[in-house]
Amino acid sequence: MANMNDIFSLAGHTALVTGSSRGIGRAIALALGRAGARVLFHGASDSQALRDAVAAAQAEGIECEQRVANLGDSGETASLAAACADADILVLNASVQSYGHLENFGEDEFHRMVETNLRSTFQLLRIMGPAMTARGWGRIVSIGSVNQAHPAPRLTIYASTKAAQKAAMLTAAKEWAAKGVTVNTVTPGVITTDRNAKVLSDPSFAEPLRASIPAGRFGVAEDCAGIVVALCSDACSYVTGADVIVDGGFSL
Ligand SMILES: NC(=O)c1ccc[n+]([C@@H]2O[C@H](COP(=O)([O-])OP(=O)(O)OC[C@H]3O[C@@H](n4cnc5c(N)ncnc54)[C@H](OP(=O)(O)O)[C@@H]3O)[C@@H](O)[C@H]2O)c1
Repeated sequence: MANMNDIFSLAGHTALVTGSSRGIGRAIALALGRAGARVLFHGASDSQALRDAVAAAQAEGIECEQRVANLGDSGETASLAAACADADILVLNASVQSYGHLENFGEDEFHRMVETNLRSTFQLLRIMGPAMTARGWGRIVSIGSVNQAHPAPRLTIYASTKAAQKAAMLTAAKEWAAKGVTVNTVTPGVITTDRNAKVLSDPSFAEPLRASIPAGRFGVAEDCAGIVVALCSDACSYVTGADVIVDGGFSL
């Protein structure tokens, strides 16, 4: 029988984690690296945050490189896929999110969210998925949002892109299940990152929200990482099409 350490090992695998310069993506990339994967960190630009994430991984002895691409641009997304052709783990974590009431949102903002969150998902799936099925092994995990199923005012477009991304994951899971490639979604609740630092700094907004979470606290980025390692490992080779909610019970 395999020992428990081996079944979670990702040695010999290479992971691209989109949006791993910061926040949840960075925590996932570091966790995959600690499990033995070579990691391709990614950001929208060659930022200090991206270089710091790579340096933090290297300081732990993790084999890693950085990649830069604006996922809102299909040419840059194609170049990213080409530069990550050897990746057999793909974590679709990067997204953009802006707030706007239905009657107010601008068409430019609609296109930015759809292009970055959804079109890039299809593009990376279309290019990287077949390379994984040809090898007979692959892991794809998208990072969803509780908003994909639970309405939140002013997040119509964002929530719609997340719901559509999840639908794409379910289809890919079914198409590629017989070819050694699993496709799953991990769905965070409220996780303290740069993204929501401003709204959570207002106690009149943050405290009632915190009180509505059965676990009694907001999540931290690392709360989302362990489940991604597990889903990418051989321990979860029979888990596909799942949606694992990481929200301290928020959506119960
Ligand atoms: N935080 C939460 O409470 C929460 C809740 C539910 C779901 N989520 C989801 O979890 C994921 C990570 O969220 P987070 O809070 O960690 O986000 P974050 O702190 O805002 O970080 C976003 C990451 O995405 C990258 N990114 C942004 N725009 C991009 C673009 N156009 N092209 C390429 N990369 C781009 C950023 O790169 P740069 O550093 O280069 O900008 C950064 O690495 C997202 O999909 C989000 O929807 C988060």
